Amino acid sequence: MKIAFVVSEAVPYVKTGGLADVAAALPRALIRAGHEVLLVIPLYRIIRDRVGPLSLRAAAGTGLPAVFEDRGADVPALFLENETWFGRGHLYGTSAGEDPQNGDRFAWFCRAALLTMRRLGFNPEIVHLHDWQSAAAAVYLRFVFDRDPVFRDVRSVFTIHNLAYQGLGDPGLLDRAGWPEDLFRTEEMEFHGRVSLLKAGILYADAVTTVSPRYAREIQTPEFGCGLDGLLRARGPRLKGILNGIDEDSWNPQTDPEIARRFGPDDLSGKMDCKTDLLAAFGMAGPADEPVIGLVSRLAGQKGLDLAAEAVDDLVSLGVRLVVLGEGEAPIERLLRSARKRHPGTIGLKIGYDDRLARKIFAGSDLFLIPSRYEPCGLTQMYAQRYGSIPVVRAVGGLDDTVDEYQPETGEGTGFKFDEATPAALTGAVRRALKAWSNSAALRTLRRKGMTRDFSWKRPAEAYAELYRSLR
Ligand code: ADP
Ligand code: GLC
Repeated sequence: MKIAFVVSEAVPYVKTGGLADVAAALPRALIRAGHEVLLVIPLYRIIRDRVGPLSLRAAAGTGLPAVFEDRGADVPALFLENETWFGRGHLYGTSAGEDPQNGDRFAWFCRAALLTMRRLGFNPEIVHLHDWQSAAAAVYLRFVFDRDPVFRDVRSVFTIHNLAYQGLGDPGLLDRAGWPEDLFRTEEMEFHGRVSLLKAGILYADAVTTVSPRYAREIQTPEFGCGLDGLLRARGPRLKGILNGIDEDSWNPQTDPEIARRFGPDDLSGKMDCKTDLLAAFGMAGPADEPVIGLVSRLAGQKGLDLAAEAVDDLVSLGVRLVVLGEGEAPIERLLRSARKRHPGTIGLKIGYDDRLARKIFAGSDLFLIPSRYEPCGLTQMYAQRYGSIPVVRAVGGLDDTVDEYQPETGEGTGFKFDEATPAALTGAVRRALKAWSNSAALRTLRRKGMTRDFSWKRPAEAYAELYRSLR
C-alpha cells in the first residue's frame, strides 16, 4: 500500500515527545513489511538549524510551498517551507503558552501536504494523521478535495496520541482555511465556542485509533475524556487501541553507542559501569551499591511529577537516590528544584532535553519511575525494561498495558504498579520494588524478563496495515 504520514514531528529531525519516536519507527516497520511510506513534516527553523542542509525537491510555486527532502533517509521525508508559519523558534508554543496562530499554521501545513503529494505524483491510498496538528487534513479531504480525482478514494486514519491537546482556535479559522461555515456547530467541530481540530480529526477521519487498548477505553469515560468522551463513546466500536512498539534497533543496550558499556540480558556486568557513569554525569559521588531511581520526562501535569516531588522525603528515607531529567513547565521545575535543595547528593536534577543523558539513565538506573496521572501509551517504561531498569508506574493507559506486576511467588511480571494517584501509593510500589531488587535471584529474573520482552513494532505495524486494508 501507499501510505502518507502527515505529522508534526519525527526523529531524527525534530522531537518534543513520543510522537516523534512513533512517526519514525512505525513507517520503518511498514516499509519493512513491503509498504511504501512518505513522511510530510513542516520545515521548522529548528530543523534547518540542527539537521543542516536538505535538498530542494521542488521550488515554491503559486500557492505551493518549496519542498525539501532528506536524500540520505531510510524513510522518505518531505519538508514544507513556510517562513511565516514555521520560521519561528518553537514548534507549538513557548513556556509562556501556545502559539495563538496554531490553527492557521497547521491548517496551512495540512493543505500544503495534500497539494504537495498531488504535485509530486505521490498518490496515497491512506493518509495517516496524528493528533490535532494534522487533523485539518481530514477536514480538507472530507469537505474541500472530496471531488478531486487524486483524493476522492483516499482514506484517512486519525491517531490520538494525547486527547488533552486539542488545537483550539477562533471560529474565523473556518473561513481562513476555506472550510464550510456550517462546520461551526456542536455536532461538528465547534467545542465550547472554539474550533477544535482534535474533534475534527475524530469526526471526519475514516478511522480513529489511539495508542493503547486501555487508553482507548479510558477516553470513553468522563474522567479521561477531556469533554469528548460522549463523542468517543459514539465512535466506540470503531475506536481502536493499537499499542505502540519501540524501535528495537535504536533502543538496544547491546549496541547503544551513547552508554558507558554495552550489556545484554545474558551478561549484565556492563550495567554497573553504566550506573557509575550515570552518577558521575549527575555529579553524585558515593557508593554505587545503593539503588538509583531514574526519571526522564516532559515536565507537564500529565506526568504526575508533583506526586514524585511529594514522595521524595519518604523515598529518600528508604535509602534510594533519584536522578531526574526533564524539561517543561516552570512550576514543576520549581517543585523538583526544591526537592533537590532539601536532599543534595541524594537527588540529581538536570533541566533540559538531552537524548544522550536519557539513554544513560535507562542504562544506569536500577528502577525507573513513571507516576503519570494519565498516559496514552508511554514509551520510557518500554525503554527502561529493554535496558534492565525496573519500571515503577501508575496503572493507567499504556503503562498498565506494558508493565505486568511482579509476582514474588511465581516470578512472573516485569515491574511494579500503583493505582491511587497519591504519594503514599507511589512509595508503596517503590518499597515492593526495592524488596525484589535486594534479592539477587528475583532481580535477575525481573530484569531478564523485561529485557527480552517483545516490544517490537512488528505486530502493531501489522495491526495498522490490517486497518488500512479494511478501509480501501
Ligand atoms: P510523551 O510523548 O507524553 O512525552 P512518551 O513516553 O511517549 O511520553 O515519550 C517521551 C519521549 O521523549 C521518550 O523518547 C523519552 O525518552 C523522551 N524524553 C522526554 N523528556 C526528555 C528529556 N528531557 N530529554 C531527553 N529525552 C526526553
Ligand atoms: C503522546 C503520549 C504518550 C505516547 C506518545 C506516542 O505524547 O503522551 O503517552 O507514548 O504520544 O504515542
